[in-house]
This record gives sequence, structure tokens and C-alpha cells, in this order.
Amino acid sequence: MTDTAKQDHVLIFDTTLRDGEQSPGATMSHTEKLEIAQMLDEMGVDIIEAGFPIASEGDFNAVSEIARQSQNSVICGLARADFRDIDRCWEAVKHARRPRIHTFIGTSPLHRAIPNLTQDEMVVRIHDTVSHARNLCDNVQWSPMDATRTEDDYLCRVVETAIKAGATTINIPDTVGYTAPRESAELIRMLIENVPGADEIVFATHCHNDLGMATANSLAAVEAGARQVECTINGLGERAGNTALEEVVMALKVRNDIMPYQTKIDSTKIMNISRRVASVSGFAVQFNKAIVGKNAFAHESGIHQDGMLKNAETFEIMRPEDVGLAETNLVLGKHSGRAALRAKLKDLGYELADNQLKDVFVRFKALADRKKEVFDDDLIALMSDETTNAEHDRIKVRSLRVVCGTHGPQEADLTLTIDGVDQSVTATGDGPVDATFNAVKALFKHDARLQLYNVAAVTEGTDAQATVSVRMEENGKIAVGSSADTDTVVASCKAYVNALNKLLVRREKAGGDVAEVSYKDVS
Ligand code: KIV
Ligand code: ZN
Repeated sequence: MTDTAKQDHVLIFDTTLRDGEQSPGATMSHTEKLEIAQMLDEMGVDIIEAGFPIASEGDFNAVSEIARQSQNSVICGLARADFRDIDRCWEAVKHARRPRIHTFIGTSPLHRAIPNLTQDEMVVRIHDTVSHARNLCDNVQWSPMDATRTEDDYLCRVVETAIKAGATTINIPDTVGYTAPRESAELIRMLIENVPGADEIVFATHCHNDLGMATANSLAAVEAGARQVECTINGLGERAGNTALEEVVMALKVRNDIMPYQTKIDSTKIMNISRRVASVSGFAVQFNKAIVGKNAFAHESGIHQDGMLKNAETFEIMRPEDVGLAETNLVLGKHSGRAALRAKLKDLGYELADNQLKDVFVRFKALADRKKEVFDDDLIALMSDETTNAEHDRIKVRSLRVVCGTHGPQEADLTLTIDGVDQSVTATGDGPVDATFNAVKALFKHDARLQLYNVAAVTEGTDAQATVSVRMEENGKIAVGSSADTDTVVASCKAYVNALNKLLVRREKAGGDVAEVSYKDVS
């Protein structure tokens, strides 16, 4: 085992920006990726898989810039078992203080059939590509994709080949979420016992959640000797997602009595990054999701409340503040001043310069005028409202008035400022949101298709703010827009326009894009 992974230390490898982001619909913009990467770096993630550089010009640029900005984390890029992929990956990650190349090939019978390689030919390919990566970078991770459905003897053979060729981390992916805890542990144990050189490298576990066992499978692998867990924030990822970072970190923390392993993660930063990932990906967190769901710390039944009042430990195995969840309390009202706002925002993890505070204070006052009580969650929604920081947007919402009635159609009067010019229209639709979206379409013609429309109340009460996410697709490019407002239709309109603005930026950049490839396109 290398000195990066001690016996009782588990490395956290976050792949939100690669495996998470490659899941259909979870596309993040360049700026959002940089922001998430910075948050991951600050929370103590050991390795950030920042993207798949060969996939597109956009991915390449994001990985390069994340590599340049990273302070502590190792920055890793993904590459198929192909020299061009590996070279492109190195070009992007080489700017990091601590770069890593992650290269992989599918080794199960089903995956071997795709590039049509015999077992022996694949071994040669693995040897050559890992050696090539190692000549570029002294930190190389190798993965046999679909390892959990690969024959044991062949898996030992390919892992040994990769170690001999210079891999420093061997990742064992459960690509289709097929394994179960006991089997996951046995596989790691089998490899450690049988593969020559296994004690020189770090074994990693990479689980998908198709059967709801990703976290359990990852922890079982750790107990068997894996010392790197691959995971994503909120369990974001294709199909049922990947292992959730917050679940692994908190399980190791809360049940350290039976799983005596440490991570470097500052768990108090979990809530903030969970909210941000949900907002930029457009994938809302389910209410009863472990650790980060809205109900994870809510004790609503009578018995629970009584027990909680007597002794919080009766029903609580961890404290809300351990994951960065401040008690939901009344924070500010319309008479609160700037200093109180600054202090509260600091508590919530937002440090603002004077000019930023000035702007946020104006928006806070407007909100407090419409809403008697301003809670922590309201301030978080206010801070993550993407439509308020949009000087460069080509389209801006200037005014909206909607007429509703029991008998439709509903009517929306909308004025947008498009490239600096005000334009107005009245449109009808089946409901206020449909009428509003039709008005946007009438003013700014586009072919983008609405893929998802999601509304959530930030707090309780009829004066609660609504946060709205809108996902739109145009020629294979996806953008997620979001906005918050006490008026659901206004929030919807702004979120729609926000997504359109992002698509316009992607459209402008598309000129330079190479064809986008997925890590599943085997060459
Ligand atoms: O699930 C998987 O097999 C992967 C590999 C590319 C590591 O994500
Ligand atoms: Zn995966």
C-alpha cells in the first residue's frame, strides 16, 4: 500500500463532475463545474475526477482549469484504453499540483466483445496503455470496467498486468450495480490475496446503485481492504446513481466503533455542496434521502418530538450541525440590518465582499417585504438564484403579469429585454406557466425542448418561495436553469429564461467543439 493510503485512512474520490455529470440531463456549465470543484477541494476530497477530457472541448477546458485552480486535491481525468485519449487527458490534468490519469477498459465477457479483442489481445492493450500513461504521469489509476461480472482468474490477470505496467491505484467498478455486500468484500479480498504486487497499490471501489446497495457495497469493500471509495455528491449519476459521498463519510464517522476508518472530509460542508449540486444539475434531492434529504433530521411524529425534547439522542444518531445543517429557525425580518445579514450569511458559508453584500441586501429587503419570516433556507435560495447575477445574459425578464381563472386559457403579458431591447407580447396557454413559456417562445424563437420542469417550496407556508428548475435540450446540448421567487410563475419564467441563456452560451461555443463522445464509446 502506498503512503497516500494508510491502513485506517480511506481516500475519498469524488466523480460528481465525471460519472455524475455524464448522466443524461445532469450537464453543468463550465463555471458551475469550477465552483463545485472548488467546494470539493475545500471540503477535503482527496481526488477529484474532473471530467473526461477527450469527450469535448468543453470537458477538456473544464478539467484543465480545475487542474490549475486546485489547491489540495489530486485532479484526475478519465481516458479510455487509447493513446490519444490518454495524451488528451494528460494535456488537461498536467496543470494540477497533483495530477492523475485514470484509464479503463471493459473486461467482462460482454464488454470484451465490443472492441472484439481476445483475452490475450486485451492484456497487451492494457499493458501498453497503462505503461503509456505511466510514462506521462506518476499517478495512474486503472479500472477493469464491469469488474464484478468479469471471471475471477481473468480479473486477477488483468489487474496484475496493470500493476506491472505502473498503475498505482486499481479501481474495481460495479458498473451495473449488480453486486451485493458480501460479494463486494470477497472480490477485493480475493484480489488482495491472489494478485502479485497488490500490497504496493491502493484498491478502490466504484459502485452503482441499481439495487440500492452502492453504499453498503462500498463499505464492505473497505472492510475487505479497499482504501479508496469512489462516489458522488447526492449519489448523482446515471440510472440509479453512484455511491453517495455523504453516506459513506457519515457512516464511517457515526459507526467508527465498528468501521474504524478515517476520511479527511469536513462533514460540516456536506449540506452546502449537496444543495449546490442539486441546483446546478437540476436533480432535486428526494425528501427522505439519507443525510441530505429535507426530512433526514426532521422529527415530526408526536412520540419523536417528545423524546427529542427530553434527550436529542433518543432518535438522533448524528447532529444536524455535523453535516452543516443549521437549526431551521427564524433568522431575519424586514427590520434586520446589513450586519445581521452578513453574520447570518457567514454562518451559512457565504463570505461576501462589501459590494456583493450591498446587492444581496437589496434583494433580501425585497424578499422580507413580501415574506414576513425569512428562514435560512430562504437565504440559501436567494444566494443560489442564478438569475440575479446575470449582467451578461442576452435575455432578461423585465415584467410579467398573468391572468388566471377557473376557465382557461390563461393569459401572460410578458416583457423581455433581448440584446438590450424591450419586447412585449401577450400569449395564452393551458395554465399560467404554459402561457408564460409560450410568451417566451413568441418573443425569442427557439427549437429547444423542455425536458424537465420541477417546482419545490423552500419553506412552509403559503408565502413560501418556490425554487424552480428547468432542463432544456437543443441538438443534444442540455442546459439547466433555476430561479427562486415567492411567485411560482415568476420563478418559472426566470428559470426558463436562465436555461435559454445557458443554451445560447453553449451554442456560441459549439463552433469549436469536437464531436462529443461518451466513455461508453469503445474505440
Ligand atoms: O462505472 C464504471 O465502470 C465507470 C468506469 C469508467 C470507472 O464509471
Ligand atoms: Zn461508474
